[in-house]
Amino acid sequence: MAPHPWIEAFAPATVSNLGPGFDCLGLALRGPGDTVRARTADVPGVRLLRVSGDAGKLPLASDRNTAAVAVQQLLRHHAPEAGIELELTKGLPLGSGLGSSGASACAAVVAADAALGLNLGATHLIEAAREGERVACGAAHPDNVAPAILGGLVLIPSLHPLRVVALPVPTDLWLAVYTPGHPVATEQARAILPHNYPLPTVVHQAARLGLLVHALHTDDLALLGEAMVDEVAEPARAGLIPGFLAAKAACLEAGAVACTISGAGPSTFAIAPSRERATALLEILEECFTGAGVAGRGHVDTVGPGARVVSAPLH
Ligand code: HSE
Repeated sequence: MAPHPWIEAFAPATVSNLGPGFDCLGLALRGPGDTVRARTADVPGVRLLRVSGDAGKLPLASDRNTAAVAVQQLLRHHAPEAGIELELTKGLPLGSGLGSSGASACAAVVAADAALGLNLGATHLIEAAREGERVACGAAHPDNVAPAILGGLVLIPSLHPLRVVALPVPTDLWLAVYTPGHPVATEQARAILPHNYPLPTVVHQAARLGLLVHALHTDDLALLGEAMVDEVAEPARAGLIPGFLAAKAACLEAGAVACTISGAGPSTFAIAPSRERATALLEILEECFTGAGVAGRGHVDTVGPGARVVSAPLH
């Protein structure tokens, strides 16, 4: 019998939290991401045949790899008799804070959905991809997978039931994104967070999240900068990222709209109103992190679309 055709899907890197939106706010980047090929198989269940671009660090086992776990979840709810084979190509560094595990899970569910002809809605795809996050870091947080599926800038106001709200993206929003060469495990970055916060901290954080949504709806970048202050995760995590505080201070001094940690870090991003300004901020980030002994890689990016099939359609 002729082998079933491969369907290839791409899912983008994401920047989550965006200051005050811990676990409930994220955006999709236009640039880098992960790619997954999926094809139907005659044997039920999920088999991950190959992972590349990970320097051999990721597990192939279907119950431990985020892409395979996400597809297993999808099959469990929507195609329990089906079989799927997967191949994952990592374009994103591991432990970077750029939604690397989320991108693998999202590319996998989008490719599997297309291979099976299910045509599931975004909420179902996000629900399945979230399970991949659970094996990656112990928490099925949605703020990477929701924007990785939907694209743009996304708020997740409710987990049970899952609700996602696409927010407006400011006209001139440029990001300088830098990943220092000092990986941080999301699990560790979550474990160090306090379990309780003083009431004024909670009030400030809620007020800033409200201001952020208002800034997006009014296309006001200066207001966005004022809103992008994180009193919940950043203070606890700054110590995990050598050079972060100096880099942030230098970017703000140079006129960045905002500068904070991307997701669990160590990636750090600064916001600017133009490509030129973002490029200048990227140089500052590079200089600061290199000076701190954790040189890495960075790029300038904008908000982009979500996961999509990139191979030719099936006939
Ligand atoms: N919201 C999550 C966190 C994102 O900050 O832990 C992890 O990438």
